[in-house]
Amino acid sequence: MMTFKDQITQGIPSELPAIKSFAATINRAPKRKEILSKDEKELAIRNALRYFDAKHHGVLAKEFAEELKEYGRIYMHRFHPDYDLFARSVDEYPGKSLQARAIMLMIQNNLSHAVAQHPVELITYGGNGAVFSNWAQYLLTMQYLSEMTDEQTLVMYSGHPMGLYPSHKDAPRVVVTNGMVIPNYSKSDDYEKFNALGVSQYGQMTAGSFMYIGPQGIVHGTTITLLNAGRKIAKNGEGLAGKVFLTAGLGGMSGAQPKAGNIAGCITVCAEVNAKITKIRHDQGWIDEVISDIDELVTRVKSAKEAKEVVSIGYLGNVVDVWEKFDTENIYVDLGSDQTSLHNPWAGGYYPQGISFEEANEMMANDPELFKVKVQETLRKHASLVNNHTAKGTYFFDYGNAFLLEASRAGGDVMAANGIDFRYPSYVQDIMGPMCFDYGFGPFRWVCASGKPEDLEKTDAIAGAILEKLMQSSPKEIQQQMADNIQWIKGARANKLVVGSQARILYADAEGRMRIAEAFNQAIAKGDIGPVVLGRDHHDVSGTDSPYRETSNIYDGSKFTADMAIQNVIGDSFRGATWVSIHNGGGVGWGEVINGGFGMLLDGTDQADKRLKSMLHWDVNNGISRRSWARNEGAMFAIKRAMAIEPKLKVTLPNLVDDSLLEDLF
Ligand SMILES: NC(=O)c1ccc[n+]([C@@H]2O[C@H](COP(=O)([O-])OP(=O)(O)OC[C@H]3O[C@@H](n4cnc5c(N)ncnc54)[C@H](O)[C@@H]3O)[C@@H](O)[C@H]2O)c1
Repeated sequence: MMTFKDQITQGIPSELPAIKSFAATINRAPKRKEILSKDEKELAIRNALRYFDAKHHGVLAKEFAEELKEYGRIYMHRFHPDYDLFARSVDEYPGKSLQARAIMLMIQNNLSHAVAQHPVELITYGGNGAVFSNWAQYLLTMQYLSEMTDEQTLVMYSGHPMGLYPSHKDAPRVVVTNGMVIPNYSKSDDYEKFNALGVSQYGQMTAGSFMYIGPQGIVHGTTITLLNAGRKIAKNGEGLAGKVFLTAGLGGMSGAQPKAGNIAGCITVCAEVNAKITKIRHDQGWIDEVISDIDELVTRVKSAKEAKEVVSIGYLGNVVDVWEKFDTENIYVDLGSDQTSLHNPWAGGYYPQGISFEEANEMMANDPELFKVKVQETLRKHASLVNNHTAKGTYFFDYGNAFLLEASRAGGDVMAANGIDFRYPSYVQDIMGPMCFDYGFGPFRWVCASGKPEDLEKTDAIAGAILEKLMQSSPKEIQQQMADNIQWIKGARANKLVVGSQARILYADAEGRMRIAEAFNQAIAKGDIGPVVLGRDHHDVSGTDSPYRETSNIYDGSKFTADMAIQNVIGDSFRGATWVSIHNGGGVGWGEVINGGFGMLLDGTDQADKRLKSMLHWDVNNGISRRSWARNEGAMFAIKRAMAIEPKLKVTLPNLVDDSLLEDLF
C-alpha cells in the first residue's frame, strides 16, 4: 500500500488504477447538455488522452467516450485518488516549498467530500464551480506542487497545469486563470462546448482559486446582509424577531441562509428541491427543521410568527410553491430573496415548478429546449408572485444569483418604469455596496495550516482584540461595521461554523486586514501558532467586476468594464501574493463577470510581513479608488482617509458637478 505522500508525488500513475465505484450517497453533478458534434467528441477524447501514456489509450478512449455519453463530460473517474480528500495539516504534504504545500491543503479542502457540492466531478459549489475539469489535472497539479521550489511558478490554464516555470521567491507560486476566453466567445453555450472539450472551465470564485472555506464564508456575508436588510425595514429600530425571511437554495452558498437567519434572529423559510442536499444541511445542523408538506409549512410558520421563534425551516420542494401558498394564505413575508443557481439556469441551477426533481434532471439532458421553456414559465410566475408580496410590503432583494436578469430575459415583470433598471435592488446596490465595499469592508479570511482548532481559537482572539482596538479610533462612518464584525468574531466559535479546514471569515477594511495579518505573522514567529493562509472571497471591494452584483452600485457608466479586477490580480501578483487567480464567470454566469483573488501564506518571516502590508493595502484600496472615482460617497471618504494614513498613496479624486448645470444642455 503506497503512503499518502508517495501517491501525491507519483502524479498520474503509470499503471491504470482500478475502476472506481462511488457511494450512492455522494451528491453527483447532473448530466451536462449534449453540445459536441461527432468531430468535436473525437477531439475531446484526443484531448483527454494527452495526459496518458499511449499504451493506455485503447482502454481509456472507450472509457472516456462512455463518460462523455453518460455525463456530458470526461471526468476520468478511474483516477479519483484512493486516499480521503480533505485538508490535512500542512506538515503532512510532501514537498520542498511550504507555500506549495499550503496550496495543496487548500486544493484538497475544495475537493473534500464534506465541503464540495459534487466532489467526484471536482465541483466545489454553485453547480459548476470547478477546481479542475478531470482527475488527471488534479494528480498532475499535486505532483508539480510536491516537487517545486520557491524559485518556480506553476502556471494553470483553466484547471490544466501547464507546467513549472523559473521565477523568484517573491513571485506567486501559482498563477491561475479560469475560463478566460476571447470576449465574443463568452456565451453560455461556448462554455458548455469548451468545457466538454476539456479546454476551459468555470472556476466560480473561490472554487477554481482554492479559497473556498465551506458555507461559513458566506454565512458571515449573509448575516451582515440580513442584519442590514433588517435595519432597512425596521420601523422603530426593532430587530428581526418574529419576522419572516423567505428564500430558496440549500446548496454550496445558499445553504448558509438558514444559519445566517438564525444568527440574525428571524424565521427563515428556505425551499430546496434536492432531497439529498436538504438532508446534508439538516444533518449538519444548518437548518433546524425540514417540512415537505406545504400545508404543514403554513401551520408551522404561523406558530413561529406567533411565538416570535428564531427558527430555520427547510421546505423540500419548489420555492415558487411557497411564494404562491404564502400569497393565498396571506402569510406576510418581511424579507424575500432567492439563491437558486440562476447563473446556470439551463443545467440544473433552477428547477421548474410542477415537475419532480428527477423528471427535471432527465428533461434538461434529453429535451433541453422543453426544459428551457419550463424554466422560463416558472420564472415569469415566480416574478409575478414576488410582485404580489412586495405590493403587500415585502422587501425583496436580488441575491446576486441573476434572478432578476433571468426573470427579465424570460419576460417576467421585473423591470422598473424606466425600462432599464430592475424594479428591485440587488443586495450590493442597497446593502453591501454602500455599507461595506465602498468603505473597504469585505470578506477577508484565513486558514490555520496546522489544522489545529486551538490555532483557530487563538487567531479569533487576536483578530477580535485588534478590531476592538481599531474601533476606539475609527470614524463614526464605520462604527456599525466594526461593531457587527467584533460581535461576529466573538460568537464565531460558539456558532460552530467550521466545515473542512480550520478557517475563519471576518469582514474587515484595509487597515483591519493589515493589522490582523501582521499580528498573526508575529504570533507565528513566536511559535504561538502554525503558519496561516490569508485570502478572501472574490466577492469583495476590488476583486470583482460584475455589473449586476459586486459593481452594481457603480453609477458612472463603468460597471460593464473589467479594468478593476484585472488591475487587482496583476497588482497582487507583484506585491507578494502566494497565488493569484483571475476568472471569467463566477456567481452570475459565464461572460457576465470577471473576478479574481489571491492566497498568501504567512510563515512568521520578515518577508511575509513586508508582503502582507504591501499586498493587502493594494488589494483593498484599488477598489475603493475606483468606487471613489465613480463618485460613491463612502468610497470618497474612505480613500481620503487612506491617503491621510499612507503618504505614498495618491489617488485621483472626482470633482462633483452641480446637477442644475446639466439640465438644459441637450
Ligand atoms: N450567498 C451569497 O452571499 C451569494 C452571493 C452572491 C451570489 N450568490 C449566488 O447564489 C446562487 C446559489 O449559489 P450556491 O452555491 O448555493 O448554488 P447551488 O447550486 O449549490 O445551490 C442552489 C440550490 O438551489 C436549488 N434550487 C434550484 N431551483 C430551485 C427551485 N425552483 N426551488 C427550490 N430550490 C431550487 C438547487 O437544487 C440547489 O441546491 C448562485 O447563483 C450564487 O452565485 C450567493
